[in-house]
Amino acid sequence: MRLFIMPDPHSATRFAANEIASLMIERPNPVLGLATGRTMEGVYRALCGMHREEGLDFSTTTSFNLDEYVGLSAADPCSYHHYMNALLFNHVNSRPDAIHLPAGDAPDLDAECTAYEESIRASGGIDLQLLGIGDTGHIGFNEPPSPFDSRTRCVTLNQKTRIQNAAMFGGNPDAVPTRALTMGVGTILEARQLLLLALGQSKAAIIAKALEGPVGPQVSASAIRLHRQCTVILDEASASALSAETRGQALFQAN
Ligand code: F6R
Repeated sequence: MRLFIMPDPHSATRFAANEIASLMIERPNPVLGLATGRTMEGVYRALCGMHREEGLDFSTTTSFNLDEYVGLSAADPCSYHHYMNALLFNHVNSRPDAIHLPAGDAPDLDAECTAYEESIRASGGIDLQLLGIGDTGHIGFNEPPSPFDSRTRCVTLNQKTRIQNAAMFGGNPDAVPTRALTMGVGTILEARQLLLLALGQSKAAIIAKALEGPVGPQVSASAIRLHRQCTVILDEASASALSAETRGQALFQAN
C-alpha cells in the first residue's frame, strides 16, 4: 500500500485527480471505477478543469460507478446518476454508451446486478477504482459485515450511513432509501489499482480502524490492505488518529 498524507484537503484532492488523469493519459482505453459522495466533489471539479484547460480526453474512457440507491431513477435529483451528470459527465466529452451505473429502478434487481458484473468483465475489467470511506467503514455501500468475496448485489443501508447521507435528502435520514445496489468487495478487489481518498477529521477514527485494525468483513475498507496496487491519499485531519508507525510509512507527510 502506498500511503500519502497531504497537508490539506485541496492538495489531497488535487493529487487524487492527478493520479486519475495520469492513468487516463497512459492507457489507450482506460476503464475507471468511480465513486460519489462529498469527498469526490473536488476530484470531479479538478478533472473538469483539466478537461477544459488542458484538453484531458474522456472520449476513450469507460466508467463504472460503485453504487446507486434502490428506487431512484437516473433523473431523480438525489440519485448518483444525477450527481455524476451534474459534477462530471455534463462537462466532459465522455461517450454516453461508455458510462455505467447500476439502475436503482430496475424491475429485477438481481438481474441488474448480474448484468452489471458481466459488463465490467466485458470491458476487460477496471484499471483504477476510486474509493471513499463511509462512517461504517464501507467502500461502495458494503456495510458491515460484507464478505470479501461479495459481488454486485442489493444491500440494506446501515442507519449510520442514512444519517451520513441525509444532507442530500433535505437533512432527513428517514428520506434516504433503505437499500442500494453496490459493487461487492470482491468486485472492487478485482480492479487492477485502488485509490482511496479520505478528507477531514470526521474520517480519522474509521481510517485508523481500516488501516490499523483487524482485516475483515466488519470494516470493508480494511480489504484494500489485501490489494497489491493500492494507494491511500489522506489530508492531515483524516490521518490524525493514525499511529506514529503508520505515519512513518507515508511517502509524503505534511510538516
Ligand atoms: C459512494 C460510495 C461511498 C462513499 C462514502 C463516503 O459512491 O461508494 O462509499 O464514498 O460513503 O462518502 P462521503 O464522501 O460523502 O463522506
